[in-house]
Parts: sequence; C-alpha cells; structure tokens
Amino acid sequence: MNVSRRHFLAGTAAIGAVGTGARAQPAGTELIPAPARATIAPGRETEVWGYNGSVPGPSLRFRQGGRARIAVTNRLNQDTTVHWHGLRLPNPMDGVPHLTQAPIVPGGRFLYEFDLPDAGTFWYHPHASSAEQVERGLAGAFIVEEREPPVVDRDLIWVLDDWRLTQEGAVAGEFGNMMDSSHAGRLGNTVTINGRVPERFAVQGGERLRLRLINAANARVFGLEFGELNPTIVTLDGHPLEPHAPPGGRVILGPGMRADLILDIGAAPGATLAVVDGFYARGRYKLVDVVVEGRKREVPLTQPVRLAANPLSVPDLAAAERVVIDLGGGMMDPRLMRAVRERGGQPDPEMIRTMRERMVAGQIWTLNGQSVMGHHHAPLLTLQRGRSYVFAFNNDTAWPHPMHIHGMAFRVLTRNGQAVPYGEWRDTTLLDPGERVEIGFVADNPGDWMFHCHILEHQEAGMMGTIRVT
Ligand code: C2O
Ligand code: CU
Repeated sequence: MNVSRRHFLAGTAAIGAVGTGARAQPAGTELIPAPARATIAPGRETEVWGYNGSVPGPSLRFRQGGRARIAVTNRLNQDTTVHWHGLRLPNPMDGVPHLTQAPIVPGGRFLYEFDLPDAGTFWYHPHASSAEQVERGLAGAFIVEEREPPVVDRDLIWVLDDWRLTQEGAVAGEFGNMMDSSHAGRLGNTVTINGRVPERFAVQGGERLRLRLINAANARVFGLEFGELNPTIVTLDGHPLEPHAPPGGRVILGPGMRADLILDIGAAPGATLAVVDGFYARGRYKLVDVVVEGRKREVPLTQPVRLAANPLSVPDLAAAERVVIDLGGGMMDPRLMRAVRERGGQPDPEMIRTMRERMVAGQIWTLNGQSVMGHHHAPLLTLQRGRSYVFAFNNDTAWPHPMHIHGMAFRVLTRNGQAVPYGEWRDTTLLDPGERVEIGFVADNPGDWMFHCHILEHQEAGMMGTIRVT
C-alpha cells in the first residue's frame, strides 16, 4: 500500500482524498480546524491539530476559472484564520488576522469565497500563531486543475512536513523559542509525507505520474534527489515553466514552496529506488523507497508535459521601479562581524546594545532595518497599482530565507547578478546566505499584503512587513 492510499484510508473525513484522482470539489466545502489524533510514526498516536480530523487536511480540488467557497468553523481554543498560499485573490479573502479580516474566534465561522484565475498546486494554512498552528498539523493541499490537464496515470500529492516529536511521540512545545528563532527555525526530527513517516511508495513500470510536492514544514528546506527516477519539473509554486530536469539533480523546496514533477517510471518491476533529501550537508537521509511493483505498460506515454501559462501580468522591466530589500539579523550576523573587523576586533558597544534590546523584545530579524511584530502595522512599502516593480533582495544574514509575497506572483530575474535560466514565476523564493536575488512583478492586486520569510519562527521574530498596493 502506498503512502497516498494509506492517507485515503486514514482520512475518512477528507473531502478530496490524496492520490485518488478525485475530481473537482462540490459547491460548498467545510474546513474545521480542531484537535485530533494521528498516527504520524508507526505504532503510536500523536495529538495534533487538524482540519476535519486529518493531518494534513483534506486536499481541496477545484477547476481553473471556477470559484472556491469554503466555510471555516474554528474548533480550536484560540483564534485562527485560513490563508490560501499562492492564490491570487481579493485582499479580504487572504486570511491574515487583523490585516485582512478579524480573527476567527473559537466557535466562530468565516466564509471564504473567491475566483480561481490560476491553475496549479497551492496550499492552505492558518496565519494566526502560525509557528504553533502549522507545526501542530494545520495545513492542506489546494489544487486548481488546468482546463486541459496533462495526460498522466496518477495525479499525486506529497505534503512534506517536519515534526519535532518528544520520545513519547507528542509534538514538542516551546514554539518560537529564542534558539529556533535566531537560527534556522524549528527543525524537527520526524519527516512525513501526507502526515505519515513513509516506508515505501509503490509505482508501476511504464507509469507516468504527476507528483505535486508541497513543503508545509515550518523551517526545513528540502533538497530532494530522485536519482534514476529522472523527474521533470513542470511547475514551480503552481506556475508552469519550460519542463526541465532539476538543476544539480535536486528539487529544492523552502518552506511554503511547491514543485510539480512528471515521473516516467523506467525501472523494471522489482526495482527499488531511493528518494534522498540532501539539503543539509550533515543531515542527508533517505526520505522514501520507491518500489516498482508490476508493469503498467510497455510503451511509455509520450504526450507533451508543457502546461499552459497562467494569466499573469508581465512586468515592464524597463519602466519598473527598483526597491532594495535588505534582510538582516539572526545569529552570526554578518553586519556585526564586519563592524567588529572594522574596529580591529573590538565590538561596537552601541551596536551590541541595540542588538541586545532587540533580542529581549524577540525582534531578531529585520527587513530594511525594521523588525515587525504582529500583523497590524504601517506598511513597509507602498506600491502604485498597475506599476511594475523590481525587488532587489540582499540576504545579509548567515541563514537561508524563503521570502514570500501574498496576493501576487512574481518572476525571478537574477541570482547574484546572473539571469536565472527559466525565469520562473513564484510566490516564494529561497535566498541562500549572502545571496542577492531580483524579482519582478506588476503590483496589480490592491490591498495590504503580507510579505515575510516563510520560516515561521523567523516571520514571528520580525522578518515580515506589509506591502500596500493602492
Ligand atoms: Cu504560506 Cu504568509 O504564508
Ligand atoms: Cu527567514
């Protein structure tokens, strides 16, 4: 039995079960975040928070050009919201507490309703106390099917997550502690696919799979090596691009990021092929064994896998306004190191004092020198509606940061001054330590939009702001 099948059996409350190829959503969908129990690792139960009793929540499926109508009833003992990550929707539907809506109080209900201009792999999660709520299991896939989907044998979803469990199998506490917040975020000790520690994933020879990868972890970056499975990347963050093999043999997914792969299973029945996560040099591990059981067909499918583009506004780069976004802060702050070096090894007392004050206030990270806490605040940037912008990110920290913008998709232009090969559209882009990345987009969606690092402990420790499009 493969992972998705198990998820289907486990998640009887699920509306659109993973991997069943279940077609578009009935008119009204209910999501109920509530405490639940789940078997994350074999042989023991974990208390989690789930949507409709399952972890991850039900996979929602809609059709491009359709409309989503989703009622959320809060059965948690704290405020929540649901954010529809990557979807371009009207600002009041974006699910950011205090900024785009009042929080959904315990027992409260909120109806989300919006059109779906883009096809692709998206996801949903709370935006209230997200470092805790997402970590406890609140997340799910949101799939918008193309008008003409590619021909595949199975359309599968892997929601990747990373849990920090205690020896007893409980979700460890101390969300957003100083240690996690000032370093790489909350890295866990248990990686799951669709809420379960995976053992094996059964495929058939000659089969063509569409595999939708979603990184729902708080902080873990995945660098998945599929080896001889030879995947082809066909979308990133939901948006189609020139089909290509993963650069360097790795599919890199920072928190919040997605990739759709096409896998043509070339190996013979009986073969076992490992998928390895090699992102952290000292933490390589085998994610799952892909086992070829039987043969689907002798002659592989050869239909093209290039997907039709989503209707995005293309930025006018010649006329675009350039905005520099400096990422700062965290442990081993390069600015501090430089300042110390310039003073011949002596730390600047003034700098140390500000840093200490910030730390005490939990303001560990900055965007353009500001450390923003909570959701309601003056905009970091005000953009003119309809205008093109280039954001020049400069990661002046010792840590990677997946930077995410709500409400609009952007095109990645350059990395460290070099044009990127596929000019992909994304909603989240990962910046390595010291890296400079330029993105371009049209500020075509009015409202106040969150803009933050998707390592949720970094977000809650200041690495966020609001972009106002007016
Ligand atoms: Cu997944 Cu503010 O986003
Ligand atoms: Cu970050």
